[in-house]
Amino acid sequence: MHQQKLIDIQQRLKQPIAKARGLPNDRYITDSAFDDDRRHVAGASWSCIAFAEDLPQKNYVLPIDFMGIPLVITRDSEDTLRVFHNVCSHRGMHLAEQPCKTKGLLVCPYHSWSYKMSGELRGTPHIGGYGEHQHPDFDRDAGALKEVPSAVWLNAVFINLSADAIPFDDYIAPLTRQFNELCSAEDRLKFISGEADCRTSMTVKSNWKLPVENYLESYHLPTVHPELNRISPLDVHFDLERFANGGGQGSENYTRTQINNSHLPSLASWPQHKQNLAVYPVLYPNTLIGLHSDHLFIMFLQPTATNETVEHVRISYVGEDSLTEPYKAHRESLLDSWTNVFGEDIFAVERMQKGRASPGYEGGIFSPAMDKPTVHFHEWVADQLVKNSS
Ligand code: FES
Ligand SMILES: [Fe+2]
Repeated sequence: MHQQKLIDIQQRLKQPIAKARGLPNDRYITDSAFDDDRRHVAGASWSCIAFAEDLPQKNYVLPIDFMGIPLVITRDSEDTLRVFHNVCSHRGMHLAEQPCKTKGLLVCPYHSWSYKMSGELRGTPHIGGYGEHQHPDFDRDAGALKEVPSAVWLNAVFINLSADAIPFDDYIAPLTRQFNELCSAEDRLKFISGEADCRTSMTVKSNWKLPVENYLESYHLPTVHPELNRISPLDVHFDLERFANGGGQGSENYTRTQINNSHLPSLASWPQHKQNLAVYPVLYPNTLIGLHSDHLFIMFLQPTATNETVEHVRISYVGEDSLTEPYKAHRESLLDSWTNVFGEDIFAVERMQKGRASPGYEGGIFSPAMDKPTVHFHEWVADQLVKNSS
């Protein structure tokens, strides 16, 4: 998009909230905006692309589509995860098509060049002629897979495709500080996720930004989540402190699941006077988090098309005991209730997507009291577009 138009969008957002106007329709419905988001927004910041546990063994590969870009995550024999462009350096074949355990090599199915989990090019059969697997003029180093900067945080794998990515630790520091107020770094390493009763995923017919915006605010609670609103009503919700790359909301009325007089194990370091606190931060662009004293969920959004997004959800509990049979009913109950809540949000984001076909809507107006997190995210998107496309 023309730079001046982006600057205009940015300026409209930076007015006092009562006068601000949101991102215009084309940012949600055109393929060129999706492309801009990949190059200048989601791809140019730290996006979550997978859960580390989906590479369950050493020497494992997991192919990923990131907004049309084929990537592959590898876990080597030392348990180190790396992310590469999923393409053979020879003739450009798409390398890994399915998640699988390897014998330590990713082998291209075309001419059988093979790559170590570290990306290094290892085998080049017949490269020097029949039976000659070397060639003196061939630069083997130049044949290594192209690595993408990546980081693992809790169970989430992040990438950043920009050439001058800010260090992940700096990017996530404000979120880490929010976590630190509720649980120690050591304690949260106890979060562990299990099988079917800890996961779900949903496909929504909307641009990826709408689930982010919906998640950021609690304003819609009474209408979209009447059941949840009875337990954790709108008036006990509050905005989290917004930081450069995130924001969100929290509730003061979280009640731990109780079944047969038992509760799930909870984090020992969680402050006693905050037992009913739950926080729902978003790390922009696409990582949606729910932190509670007895469970953590991470939802990452995989934008699959301009108007389609897959929501991947993983719930973690505290310590290995929490995944045992005595807590099965608790886990199932929590998965049920979150699946229900996330399911209720689908109609909201899909109807907002439909509304963005209307020429009668030009970005929208905001509640000065309730929509601050939404405007913050819009501003962030506009800032990335202006900064990274100039
Ligand atoms: S394209 Fe991969 S070995 Fe030829
Ligand atoms: Fe919601």
